[in-house]
Amino acid sequence: MGALAPSGRPLARAMATAAELGGKRILEIGPGTGVITEALLDAGAEPEQLSLLERDCRLASNLASKFPDLKVITGDARFLEQILETEQPQPFDIVFSSLPLLNMKKSEKHSILTQILALLDERGILIQYSYSARPPLSENLTRELGITGMRAATVIRNLPPARVWKYSRPLN
Ligand SMILES: C[S@@+](CC[C@H](N)C(=O)[O-])C[C@H]1O[C@@H](n2cnc3c(N)ncnc32)[C@H](O)[C@@H]1O
Repeated sequence: MGALAPSGRPLARAMATAAELGGKRILEIGPGTGVITEALLDAGAEPEQLSLLERDCRLASNLASKFPDLKVITGDARFLEQILETEQPQPFDIVFSSLPLLNMKKSEKHSILTQILALLDERGILIQYSYSARPPLSENLTRELGITGMRAATVIRNLPPARVWKYSRPLN
């Protein structure tokens, strides 16, 4: 499920430019080799506002060496609330996710997404990429979670081609 397939730079750039990053509290989940992390920093994410959550210890340790100014947390997104309760002031404005959502069981996906939404400010956004033509979250799931999604970018110059999706709570 967590097989590492590093994102290409065009995809990383498309993720990083899907939202305004300056001054935003950002959590990246599943940063892997840090390709998207680099793009986030290049696009204006402030190091003191950017935290990484990676469950693979070796990758997390590499990330900590590569990005000494960032907070790198070794942990599993399935236990997000528990992990961040003690690790990080909340809420976040943006969560970037490389989690392989399409490979997860619905219950696991629902649980992780509920925890992500609980960490997000009411105007917060979740940005997720997917290699499928289908959205990474089904209509039923977005309805249950009370969020709406839009495709923010299609990245043809990625192997395989990828789509960047942006989810948020509807504003009243
Ligand atoms: C497809 S790879 C991400 C690739 C990354 N964007 C890159 O360019 O290197 C998915 C990443 O999510 C991590 N991951 C998978 N499941 C996770 C979970 N439940 N909690 C935290 N990290 C997870 C994997 O260890 C892996 O680093």
